[in-house]
Amino acid sequence: MIASPLLQRAFPHKASGYRGESPIIRRFENGPGEGTIGMADASVDQKKRRFLIGATSVVGGIGTVAAAAPFVMSFWPSERAKAAGAPVEVDISKLEPGQKINLEWRGKVVWVINRTPDMLKSLPKLDPVLADPTSKYSQQPADCKNEHRSIKPEIFVAVGICTHLGCSPTYRPEVGPPDLGADWLGGFFCPCHQSKFDLAARVYRGVPAPTNLTIPPYKFLSDTRIQVGAGGASA
Ligand code: FES
Repeated sequence: MIASPLLQRAFPHKASGYRGESPIIRRFENGPGEGTIGMADASVDQKKRRFLIGATSVVGGIGTVAAAAPFVMSFWPSERAKAAGAPVEVDISKLEPGQKINLEWRGKVVWVINRTPDMLKSLPKLDPVLADPTSKYSQQPADCKNEHRSIKPEIFVAVGICTHLGCSPTYRPEVGPPDLGADWLGGFFCPCHQSKFDLAARVYRGVPAPTNLTIPPYKFLSDTRIQVGAGGASA
């Protein structure tokens, strides 16, 4: 039962009734085929990235999703522990480059994204158009107050709630889509009032959202497991 309006915005499918799609399923919105963009494949160019993201968004099938969903679910704490704000663990061993998964922590949606080398390269290019490129006025743990806003550059963790009025922005990793323009290098777009964020969830200048998205405390329990809700102090 979802009571909070914030949670209803973050998990709209819950607010409107279960339709066979969970946040875990929605994490494959960019499709399992993105795994073909290997982390070691430095030759992947922007054109190929665009094609793969577009193509795999169509082929992301329920069968694949159903098979993969338990690996996240198995690490979720009980409903009672979640309500109390318990840390949430997630296995990221199957999180392929470019993919995003959604977790729920303290009633909020939390994203975990495996950023590709091309995505990381795009970050410094956007500094001039961002409102808070060094995250001076934004909220994140001290060990994430850096250029990629994460402990490990490729693994990105953020609270997926817009700092304007609390909608959940859409993950838009493609480069130069027609609706966002040729300058778009990938990021997050909040459709309700058009706030834009880069792939480190840093907010663009001149949009309604006042600060970068929040990075929650988290830590690596191993190379393939993260615990969200425990970790370094805020900075
Ligand atoms: S809630 Fe995101 S722009 Fe308004």
